[in-house]
Amino acid sequence: MSVVREDWVAAPGRALSGDTSVPGDKSISHRAVMLAALADGMSRIDGFLEGEDTRATAAIFSAMGVRIDAPSASTRIVHGVGMDGLRAPALLLDCGNSGTAMRLLSGLLAGQSFDTVLGGDASLSRRPMLRVMAPLRAMGAAIDSDDGERPPLRIAGGRSLRGIRFDSPVASAQVKSAVLLAGLYADGATEVHEPHPTRDYTERMLSAFGWPVEYAPGMARLVGGHRLRGRDIEVPGDFSSAAFLIVAATLVPGSVLMLRSVGVDPRRTGLLDALRAMGADIRELDRRAGACGPVADLVVRHAPLRGIALPEALVPDMIDEFPVFAIAAACAQGTTRVTGAAELRVKESDRIRAMASGLAALGGRVQETSDGMVIEGGRLRAGSVDSFGDHRVAMAFAVAAQRAEGEVAIADVANVATSFPEFETLARALGFGLERAPPASA
Ligand code: S3P
Repeated sequence: MSVVREDWVAAPGRALSGDTSVPGDKSISHRAVMLAALADGMSRIDGFLEGEDTRATAAIFSAMGVRIDAPSASTRIVHGVGMDGLRAPALLLDCGNSGTAMRLLSGLLAGQSFDTVLGGDASLSRRPMLRVMAPLRAMGAAIDSDDGERPPLRIAGGRSLRGIRFDSPVASAQVKSAVLLAGLYADGATEVHEPHPTRDYTERMLSAFGWPVEYAPGMARLVGGHRLRGRDIEVPGDFSSAAFLIVAATLVPGSVLMLRSVGVDPRRTGLLDALRAMGADIRELDRRAGACGPVADLVVRHAPLRGIALPEALVPDMIDEFPVFAIAAACAQGTTRVTGAAELRVKESDRIRAMASGLAALGGRVQETSDGMVIEGGRLRAGSVDSFGDHRVAMAFAVAAQRAEGEVAIADVANVATSFPEFETLARALGFGLERAPPASA
């Protein structure tokens, strides 16, 4: 049986203009469902991301006996079952393409009384899991995989967990969150220290659901044995989705774009710092406090960019933005250097390789390094690129095409639905030249 592959054909459109919003934050949507499911009482989540990744998380909790209603798109009513109310699922729990679902759930499921198996798609099945398995084992969890580090993960229930102090070797919010979620079920205190602060949504949201957590940039500490209280959550727009529109409006002459209610937590907005250092014109209006960090409206105007040596300290704060940052750099004047970003090799694809090979196919001058890349800005020509099944690589090349000298064919874009299902329609309405290619078989 042949699988129908989805491809795009993108080309320069018009100057971008519009006043719009982007779908809900993916990281916050995952965490909202997880904590609401374990809470006592009901929670309403507004602005929930209707993406394949976050729907996979919701489906996993449904499979463990949690009633989740969807009265309208982007709203979920979660009927919490309490800390010990989950039921053994009949089948493997399918995380799809989502590393966040798999890593956070591995911690949470390590504390249950029943066994589970976590699986995922081909991309997720290649991603490293030892980074969560090792600290969870140190807490007393029984967690295994056939090759010792890649999914599927088998988690045995009925273990008593103990709190640990964990000095994480990698700046990863997923690793930190897995350990903290296991810590909810552990005896004593669980404390995580990070080599560089990462997004603190798990900490903020645990506090919002009534679990005492001590946290500061780079550290978090909690004690097991409390309970979570259901509450309403308003999910802000996902900065990582806004990033594609921000870079496109910056690159296309004449563009002015207003993006409403975007989450602008500093642990997510490193791209704004990087683009501003390159000369971008991005303003924040009406900055306000949300349950998961500050929210603002962003106004982006076209501006010419110049290359920079990206400070390594910014890397974790823009970890999901490198595909589109590489496009900004390729359209800037001069050289951009990225170092200290080896984590990009273990994302949904090897994003260093994916961006270097795609840019090279469009005539860009890019040198791949083990932990980054060197990009000479210049012109991009027409050509064909592969997204390697990576949603952010696909959307980044749709942005690149807005500045290319002709058509860019982008292969294998179906996974855009994991994080930003309405990207194609929204981008086109704002001015992108972007069409679905006639169906091909793969
Ligand atoms: C995420 C953390 C980051 C990020 C991912 C979402 C999260 O991953 O890349 O898209 O929701 O905690 P790492 O923890 O692997 O850096």
